[in-house]
Amino acid sequence: MKFLFRILPLIVFCTANATAQKSVLPAECRIEVFADQPGATISKDIYGHFAEHLGHCIYEGIFVGKDSKIPNTNGIRTDVVKALRDMKIPNLRWPGGCFADTYHWKDGIGPASERPSIINTFWGGVTEDNSFGTHEFMELIDLLGCDPYITGNLGSGTVQEMAQWVEYLTSDNKSPMTDLRKKNGREKPWKVKYFAVGNENWGCGGNMTPEYYSNELRRYSNYLNNYPGNQLQRIACGPNSADYNWTETLMKNDGARWAMQGLALHYYTVPNSWDKKGSATTFTEKDWIRSFSATLKMDDLITRHSAIMDRYDPEKRIFLAVDEWGAWYDVEPGTNPGFLYQQNSLRDALLAAINLNIFNKHCDRVKLANLAQTVNVLQAVILTEKEKMVLTPTYYVFKMMAVHQEAKILPSNINCEKYKLETDSIPSVSYSVSRSANGKIHLTVANLFAGRGQKVSCNFNGLKINKISGEILTSNLITDCNTFEKPNVVTPKTFTDFKTNKDTIELEMPAKSFVVLEIE
Ligand code: AHR
Repeated sequence: MKFLFRILPLIVFCTANATAQKSVLPAECRIEVFADQPGATISKDIYGHFAEHLGHCIYEGIFVGKDSKIPNTNGIRTDVVKALRDMKIPNLRWPGGCFADTYHWKDGIGPASERPSIINTFWGGVTEDNSFGTHEFMELIDLLGCDPYITGNLGSGTVQEMAQWVEYLTSDNKSPMTDLRKKNGREKPWKVKYFAVGNENWGCGGNMTPEYYSNELRRYSNYLNNYPGNQLQRIACGPNSADYNWTETLMKNDGARWAMQGLALHYYTVPNSWDKKGSATTFTEKDWIRSFSATLKMDDLITRHSAIMDRYDPEKRIFLAVDEWGAWYDVEPGTNPGFLYQQNSLRDALLAAINLNIFNKHCDRVKLANLAQTVNVLQAVILTEKEKMVLTPTYYVFKMMAVHQEAKILPSNINCEKYKLETDSIPSVSYSVSRSANGKIHLTVANLFAGRGQKVSCNFNGLKINKISGEILTSNLITDCNTFEKPNVVTPKTFTDFKTNKDTIELEMPAKSFVVLEIE
């Protein structure tokens, strides 16, 4: 008995130690890829962005004016353009958002000094001087080398106003609108790939019912012409998150299948509730897993909206455009609540990877997506403060995942452990695999465990593997951010923790990390 008392502490210590060791043992995950069965093409436009007249996204973030000391081209920031080009931005959505259904495009053309000032009623009630308008946006698009995605005003505009905007932008014929464009310094028409017929018309864009909106869509679309040399893809306002009735009504009423080429879906990741969203920078592991759990709903939303679309459009002629997505937290303390300015951490990087992997998986239906928003607003890829610029962890995920643009998705399956914490339970791995036109295969994989490594064994079914290179994005803390004082806390590094065994690659991923592998 005496002996038992003496060794009891030792038994307790050893058991506790074993438990601790077990909890830090890496999880194990198996992925099987059918490398010889390429599927649908991943549209590059899934990697799109969104810039609204909101807070410091356009003004200060992108446009500083010609007279600024910050290096610029006709007022457009040189540093921001370079960063977005490096990230391979494929398209940019503008001018909103809710702002779009208050925007009258003729206010934003002609000499800047003669443009009227208006109140930005949705975002902080600030003065909008219209110094950034159609010509400035199209110049930005030229500098970025990407496609424009313009949102028309259906909520408070007219059919004539919207039709004239398309004519002003894209017609090469002689007309009052094209004469006006020439008078304003642009001889040749521009090319416009995407044009939205209103934004969130179930809410800020006019509080419409789906029946009312779908009739308006048919009427407006009728006058949005395809002028010679330009083919518009018209995007209809789609559902708010899980409003399946909206999708059903629009698909049913678009009998002739010409009113829309794309249907928008908006879904934001809010870790808690809309009243108490939570901080972007001060959070616990519970908030971490909750955010991922909320963001993973994107998969279910796309699956269910697609199933409705499949019933009316089995040939998939109408695509799904997730043209607003991203994490929405409380604004940074001391900033204007109407400006939606939030920091961006390693959590946001993994959250972006989860969503982009989901879009890749659904690439037969999802052809366009836009992260909200590019600079200084919500889940921004870039933050600016006067002349300083910081690239966020989300930026690096977009850059690392650009390898999937226009590649073919490869069919695959996965067997991985669940990541469980209290009431939350999610898959511990998010991934996708594609094959580019040059034959290279890319695997993007995120280990979502906050405190546990992951051994990922990826079998490529007979593929001859000659060469592999990799990059990793991770950091010490789940809350780590890039700040103006320390801009390089979360940046990609070379990744070499893998080995090959015939047609299988075994990766040793640290906790809370994202990896891209290039396989030749
Ligand atoms: O991205 C911010 C706002 O969120 C957009 O203006 C609006 O469309 C959505 O509700």
